Amino acid sequence: MIKTKWDHFYKKTYQQRLDLIAEEVGLSASRLSRLVNDSTVPQNLIENFLTDYPLPAGVVTNLKVNGQEHLVPMVTEEPSVIAAASNGSKLLASGAGIKAEVVSHLIGGQIVIKDFPLAELTQFVDEHRFELFAVANGSHPHILQYGGGAQKVGIRKLDEHFTSVDLAVDPGEAMGANTINTMLEAVAAWLQQKLAVTVTMAILTNFEAERIVQVNGNVPFSALATQSMSGETVAKRIADASRIAQIDHYRAATHNKGIMNGIDAAVIAFGNDWRAVESAAHSYAAKDGHYRGLSQWSISATGLVGHLTIPMPIGYVGGATKVLPLAKINQQIAQVLNVHEEMKVIAAVGLAQNLAALKALVTDGIQKGHMNLQLNSLAMANGATTEELPLVIDRLRKMKQPDSTDVKQILRQLRR
Ligand code: HMG
Repeated sequence: MIKTKWDHFYKKTYQQRLDLIAEEVGLSASRLSRLVNDSTVPQNLIENFLTDYPLPAGVVTNLKVNGQEHLVPMVTEEPSVIAAASNGSKLLASGAGIKAEVVSHLIGGQIVIKDFPLAELTQFVDEHRFELFAVANGSHPHILQYGGGAQKVGIRKLDEHFTSVDLAVDPGEAMGANTINTMLEAVAAWLQQKLAVTVTMAILTNFEAERIVQVNGNVPFSALATQSMSGETVAKRIADASRIAQIDHYRAATHNKGIMNGIDAAVIAFGNDWRAVESAAHSYAAKDGHYRGLSQWSISATGLVGHLTIPMPIGYVGGATKVLPLAKINQQIAQVLNVHEEMKVIAAVGLAQNLAALKALVTDGIQKGHMNLQLNSLAMANGATTEELPLVIDRLRKMKQPDSTDVKQILRQLRR
């Protein structure tokens, strides 16, 4: 292999790594000093550590789930997301609040086997099911103490060459990724030993069809009324928007992005793997071969009824939740005491987020509320200082479609 100056970069000291980067890209001393971070937690969490990357963390108000109020911390760089989640939560709280339920809580994984007779494999797995569970649990004995463990095994033929042995495990309070991967590798080795199968890979699946939360909520028509539309009209238009996300994947992708605006932000705040949650959500949205909106809204006699079914592969303990101090503080702020409560609260944020976005879309349009809150970042991105912000925002609000040029012009005038 070609030798480069970056070989064994990870073995250098933190200072050596910083100096190398600074020299390579010509970082100024002031920029370099902004990178310096000597806290040990992040240095040990990832590789080739450079610095901490702070993102704003805020809190959603008004969320009521199963009769209990929750303040939910959210980490996001996007203006209007937290305002919208609070807005949607308030609308849902004006009905009976949100009802949420964890309907299944198993993590799945697969051992992919090549060129082995399907009937023989199926018969072996059927006859040795409990031995297989014992091998899985034995590779991670703590899982039984935590009340979890292997629960199901199945066989799926993938094509004429490949077969998947699917294992499903109750991960207890943890997210379970490491647990199931350890179990799958143990079961794969056991199958190799018993049947001389050729294992191509053994890995968890992010298609989390058995780690599901269902969320329901309703909003009385009266709470939906705007200056120019009756509550009933707004509700009907939201139901139409929901229908469009079921029949058109162009719209479904945006609809689901809106749901994930809230879910990702809360998942990050709780120190969890948001890529796993994203992957689970979108693959679930396409589970019948057609990508659809994850939530549905319809009309009842008295108001708007919302429903969201979504996978929620998160953990309350272990992983980064243990080492990132803010994750534990955020659990306390949200008043969630175990993984099921955390799953329900995060999914409920998704429904509220979706409601606010749809209401904005079918009434004033997204730009009015969103752009109003976006003005802060527009002003800052163009050099406004904290002191200048109020004046700049005030002037931008009076403009029809303010942009960077407007901010720069306002700043020039102010500074003169
Ligand atoms: P509004 O109707 O002007 O707000 O909405 P309001 O003054 O009537 O306030 C209602 C509640 O909203 C407030 O209750 C707050 O809870 C909250 P209060 O506490 O006053 O009794 N709220 C705020 N919370 C924190 N900071 C604020 C704030 N303002 C209101 N500044 C709002 C204004 C922006 C909330 C509304 O227009 C809205 O919800 N818009 C949706 C914005 C949105 O979805 N943003 C996400 C980015 S856009 C996107 O990426 C997704 C999308 O494409 C998805 C899709 O297409 O489906 C839209």
